[in-house]
Amino acid sequence: MAKDTTDTPQGPQHVAIIMDGNGRWAQQRGRPRLFGHHAGARRVREIVESCPDVGVKYLTIFAFSTENWKRTQSEVAGLMRLFRRYIEREAKALFQDGVRVRFIGDRIKLDSKLVTLMDNLELYTADNDKVHLTIALNYGSRDEVTRAAQRLAVEIEQGRLSHKDVDAETLSRFLDTRFLPDPDLVIRTSGEARISNFLLWQSAYAEYEFLDTLWPDFTAEEFAKVVGSFGSRERRFGGATV
Ligand code: IPE
Ligand code: IPE
Ligand code: MG
Repeated sequence: MAKDTTDTPQGPQHVAIIMDGNGRWAQQRGRPRLFGHHAGARRVREIVESCPDVGVKYLTIFAFSTENWKRTQSEVAGLMRLFRRYIEREAKALFQDGVRVRFIGDRIKLDSKLVTLMDNLELYTADNDKVHLTIALNYGSRDEVTRAAQRLAVEIEQGRLSHKDVDAETLSRFLDTRFLPDPDLVIRTSGEARISNFLLWQSAYAEYEFLDTLWPDFTAEEFAKVVGSFGSRERRFGGATV
């Protein structure tokens, strides 16, 4: 039976995941990298569906970074095709599961067909509230903060805002993540212990979990274990407890 979220007050409300290791997973099987990306995409549904059971209200997943354009043209094209197919195939199930989907990242570089699918999925699921799934696509924190600074500068230039109004709260309202609480827990799979330009500002006080599991092998069971162990961490936010 699904657990009431009030049963787990210590649990993380917002979990962000760097879904890494698809390429290595495919390589281990002697298959092309895209085979790994397809396997990775199939993992997402199980994790999203398990969120209410483990008390996670917000799930943010890193699907494609602003740096991932450096990959071969065929990998990038395959990933873009995969994102389109993913949205087309998963929209109904996401809707029925009460998931509200939103995207963060710069849409300007993305194919217009993909952007239309993204916009439509956001609209289609806009009234859902069970799980808030945010997909980071062409997302990079430095790019996000730069775009926020540009928009802030325009507001000031046009006299709608004074430079004196610019504080952390105001800047946050210009970020792609303006509708999200800060992540409590950031998980990265595949054994790499780095952030790779993901939610730098938002994760200032997040806890991190670096797991050796490659993303296509990540299960709801492992997710529940990591989320469960979060309660034992003492978060001080700069204060002192003894
Ligand atoms: C993560 O898997 C998915 C994307 C970055 C799109 P990778 O493709 O980075 O897999 P590895 O790190 O090469 O194994
Ligand atoms: C981070 O993984 C981006 C995503 C998971 C989408 P990468 O595989 O691109 O990161 P690096 O290159 O190892 O830092
Ligand atoms: Mg990688």
